[in-house]
Amino acid sequence: MHAVPTLESGTRNDAASGASAEAPVRDLRRVPIHPDHWYPLAWSHEVKRGKAHGVRFAGQPIVIVRTESGTVFALEDRCAHRQVPLHAGVVKGESIRCCYHGWTYDCTGRCIDVPYLGRERLPNGVRSYPCREKEGLIFVFPGDAAIAEERPLPELGSVADKTYKTRRFGREVKCHYSFMHENLMDMNHQFLHRRQMGQMRARSLGRRRGDDWVEVNYTFARMEGKQPVGEALVFGQSRTDGGQNDKDVMTIRTCYPYQTLQIRTAAQNLVMNLWIVYVPLDAEQRTNRTFGLLSIKKPGIPGALDLAWPLLVWFTERIFKEDREIVEAEQEAHDKQGSDWNHEVFPVILELRDLLRERGVLELTPRGASHETRAEAWQPLTRMPR
Ligand code: FES
Repeated sequence: MHAVPTLESGTRNDAASGASAEAPVRDLRRVPIHPDHWYPLAWSHEVKRGKAHGVRFAGQPIVIVRTESGTVFALEDRCAHRQVPLHAGVVKGESIRCCYHGWTYDCTGRCIDVPYLGRERLPNGVRSYPCREKEGLIFVFPGDAAIAEERPLPELGSVADKTYKTRRFGREVKCHYSFMHENLMDMNHQFLHRRQMGQMRARSLGRRRGDDWVEVNYTFARMEGKQPVGEALVFGQSRTDGGQNDKDVMTIRTCYPYQTLQIRTAAQNLVMNLWIVYVPLDAEQRTNRTFGLLSIKKPGIPGALDLAWPLLVWFTERIFKEDREIVEAEQEAHDKQGSDWNHEVFPVILELRDLLRERGVLELTPRGASHETRAEAWQPLTRMPR
């Protein structure tokens, strides 16, 4: 039976933590993701040359502009004049012109033209965000721009390796990003996927923890049935060795704020490499947009993976659908209860929850706060007691 939290911030119900039942611990589902990282906010193909595209990060409206020369930049998606969205404007050369009175902004957000005003009287512009493009993703640094250059763009799994074929996928999921991290890292939820994958049992081989990461290794045993073809494709080859499929090792890692899942064979061949991130869309961070790159090692037979690709897509979509439904159910339960009643018992997930609390930010951005105020509000959390 659940203990009913008595503190607004929630009460720790993580049974394996050893912490006092009354120790106040901030509700993880209310911890905003830290903006001082590079986040993909759009796929490259979504932002056409000479066009603007409106996106959001944790409630902040951002416009991504692809200039006529093909480069991208990102600005606050609000004209400084009347606050209308800039993404409705017109891209002209290397700048964007607001659709209303034609105020024009360059890639730094500076207002460079007001058609009915002299150049010497130009008003202030809008906020700009560091923006980069890599492997078909457009990354924006929504936090403190002064430190963006110190932070390299993330490594994106095996997407650049031609010996792999990569599926790019993404969707909106109506839950806090922390549910997504937990869902992927907790392989004890194989029961959820029993109709797709049969009866699988995961065995944890141990976990490791660093300042900004936690990872766990698993092996799997098939308890019943044969390996489905779709699963064999994802794992790179069919290994139906008498019902025991425990030679592969799956490593799942959250390296804040990104997550990876890798499968290696006993011979250390990396047969599957997933890179994924969950970008909060709304200010309350109850909806995220997932950006995923699923890379599968090509088998020895040329074209075999291309032929099987539709089946792989179908199989992974079924798995993702089940995961999406269950994490959205978790979020709904949280919303009804008003706080996190989860009774977590798995040490790996306890580590993960601590990591996400520590690396998140202190307070939600106050509505209508200035950029400077927002930057001050986004302070990293101090380490929480276990
Ligand atoms: Fe943008 Fe007037 S609202 S130019």
